[in-house]
Amino acid sequence: MKTDIAYNQLVDVERRRQESNRKAQLYSRCVIALATVATLLLAAMAIYNLLTPRVSSPHPAPSSSSSSSLRLPKGESCSDPCKIVLVESIPEGLEFNSSTTHPSIFQAWTNLMAEARSSVDIASFYWTLTNEDTGTHEPTANQGETILKTLAKLSGKLSVRIAVNTPQKGQPQGDLRLLNNSGANIRTVNMRELTSGVLHTKFWVVDKKHIYIGSANMDWRSLTQVKELGAVVYNCSCLATDLGKIFEAYWFLGESQSIPSPWPSSFSTLYNKDTPLQLPLNNTPSSVYLSSSPPSFCAAGRTSDLQSILSVMEDAESFIYIAVMNYLPTMEFSHPKRYWADIDTQLRRVGYEKRVKVRLLISCWASTQPMMFPFLKSLASVYDPKSKLDIQVRLFVVPASPKQKEIPFARVNHNKYMVTDKIAYIGTSNWSGDYFVSTAGSALVVNQTASQSPEPTVQSQLQAVFERDWNSEYSTPLTQDSNVKDLC
Ligand SMILES: *[C@@H]1O[C@H](CO)[C@@H](O)[C@H](O)[C@H]1NC(C)=O
Ligand SMILES: *[C@@H]1O[C@H](CO)[C@@H](O)[C@H](O)[C@H]1NC(C)=O
Ligand SMILES: *[C@@H]1O[C@H](CO)[C@@H](O)[C@H](O)[C@H]1NC(C)=O
Ligand SMILES: *[C@@H]1O[C@H](CO)[C@@H](O)[C@H](O)[C@H]1NC(C)=O
Ligand SMILES: *[C@@H]1O[C@H](CO)[C@@H](O)[C@H](O)[C@H]1NC(C)=O
Repeated sequence: MKTDIAYNQLVDVERRRQESNRKAQLYSRCVIALATVATLLLAAMAIYNLLTPRVSSPHPAPSSSSSSSLRLPKGESCSDPCKIVLVESIPEGLEFNSSTTHPSIFQAWTNLMAEARSSVDIASFYWTLTNEDTGTHEPTANQGETILKTLAKLSGKLSVRIAVNTPQKGQPQGDLRLLNNSGANIRTVNMRELTSGVLHTKFWVVDKKHIYIGSANMDWRSLTQVKELGAVVYNCSCLATDLGKIFEAYWFLGESQSIPSPWPSSFSTLYNKDTPLQLPLNNTPSSVYLSSSPPSFCAAGRTSDLQSILSVMEDAESFIYIAVMNYLPTMEFSHPKRYWADIDTQLRRVGYEKRVKVRLLISCWASTQPMMFPFLKSLASVYDPKSKLDIQVRLFVVPASPKQKEIPFARVNHNKYMVTDKIAYIGTSNWSGDYFVSTAGSALVVNQTASQSPEPTVQSQLQAVFERDWNSEYSTPLTQDSNVKDLC
């Protein structure tokens, strides 16, 4: 990891100046403490206080949440009419005997582009939205091609910024070239140099008001040939502003190529696992925050993705359902090999100490690492109904016709979420050590346990998705004698 303190201090001053100009215009419900705009902010806050009824949070603000000299009132709440929708890509041909369905991710991205008036910011791993990029002739690439075309058109009209992991040699770059030529601003983030990881995050921030976050890559297959899950939140500037800070961190790293330590205060957040943002989601009072990894990318106040996962597990009282593509208690990509069992230990601990029911739905496809299975069998061996030990694992296989088999890196369940009896966690990371130590990812954590609204909670909707998949014909229990070669 490299840092360059003197340079970053300069950048900090410059950034504060820019932020203050921007925030003065943009000022809305989510107040950001910036010492350099204290007077402006105080005036704005006075008006805000007059206009907005405030719900106070029982949580004290963490001492680390603001490194600037101006402190905000505790438990900032947000009265935006936030609307959250779970969205999914269901691969062509997959059919569930279930009434649980959600709008498609294609629909969500299309809506977001139709709503965009001033800006679209996208954090992405790689771009292959067309048949050309994958060297295929698949009619099902049409959705991806439509997204790319629409985004290119928007790039000429409003601010489109794309932060992408620095493409490796040989990786197709046609999409990025097209967008660049159409007027988009693109910054590549050299994660290999910065952390020896990759930028694996996938989210959108539109007009600093709407967001999308989830497992889908900017890949045509993520719309029609890979099973994906995400969430889109409309009309929610307070949450979008906070996700915007994570985007700005990538944007900054795309230029500086070194990680500030500490991060300038403009990247700080007030919202984390201890003091979540209080907001109405679908008319339901909710506590929400965004986590981020790796820890070196977390400015003051930001909960790291790993801490978020561990605390959600800790908080569960009756069940923890997890759907992830990969699960390994190791540093998958490090040399020499290292064991990394933070998540694994937590699952066994809550399974034992609190007798919480644990279910892991893991993907199985041609490229699955065989090393996953001994560890998964080990977890699944923590099962003894007599003593209420109940950890179970199933493998989800997306079947493929001979023609579908020819599509490279498709036909897989790429979901990355967790749902407990209380919380919905929607992330972008595979679950092995690298993704929490060196790879950039982020997650949306929604807590609606205080809700008495008749509207279904995000938790209950996500639970239904999990149960649909777990009970479907596409999943098979992993037992001690499962021969994985026969399953995947
Ligand atoms: C679909 O679900 C219904 C109700 O759970 C069940 O009665 C029916 O047998 C199922 N059909 C198939 C094809 O699995
Ligand atoms: C975008 O285009 C400009 C020239 O028009 C070029 O200098 C720049 O490297 C391009 N950026 C990317 C990421 O392709
Ligand atoms: C967002 O708010 C606008 C203005 O109030 C409204 O017209 C629109 O329907 C809302 N969008 C969603 C998805 O709820
Ligand atoms: C969810 O919210 C409830 C009360 O609103 C709180 O007691 C609980 O700790 C929260 N859970 C998590 C994981 O933040
Ligand atoms: C998740 O893990 C798989 C297997 O290691 C890897 O191929 C994939 O690239 C990871 N997810 C992404 C999109 O990086």
